[in-house]
Amino acid sequence: MEQTFIMIKPDGVQRGLVGEIISRFEKKGFYLKGLKLITVDQSFAEKHYADLSAKPFFNGLVEYIISGPVVAMIWEGKNVVTTGRKIIGATNPAESAPGTIRGDFAIDIGRNVIHGSDSVESAKKEIALWFPESPVNWQSSVH
Ligand code: CMP
Repeated sequence: MEQTFIMIKPDGVQRGLVGEIISRFEKKGFYLKGLKLITVDQSFAEKHYADLSAKPFFNGLVEYIISGPVVAMIWEGKNVVTTGRKIIGATNPAESAPGTIRGDFAIDIGRNVIHGSDSVESAKKEIALWFPESPVNWQSSVH
């Protein structure tokens, strides 16, 4: 089954949006397969955002991600990468639709609350980076 990596960024954690965000993914029907509250260091954040290292906002982005704890998660379900990105909304909150997480809770591209993998390939890489231990393999639904 398809999996994606979702991270609630420091601003999302500090603003108390963790429950709301998890609830949106759960209500959609996705399964939470891994979760941890973690503060990462500079070299880890640079690895996560390695593809963006040439961007002018890279240093600010890394500083922001290491500024406090984040909630790292693995979510699983049919088309979870693409649908997860729809739930999250466009990268720039000025363009994300109301009803999406960024559309409802963010106004600044530099403080956009949440990250979601942009492809199945990226999801595999990001899950391997953030969850090097075996992901917890349980289902949140009642059987
Ligand atoms: P994310 O989905 O985590 O993927 C890359 C991140 O880079 C993005 O969310 C934003 O937080 C950040 N980002 C992208 N474009 C800009 C920009 N123009 N200025 C500042 N941050 C940006």
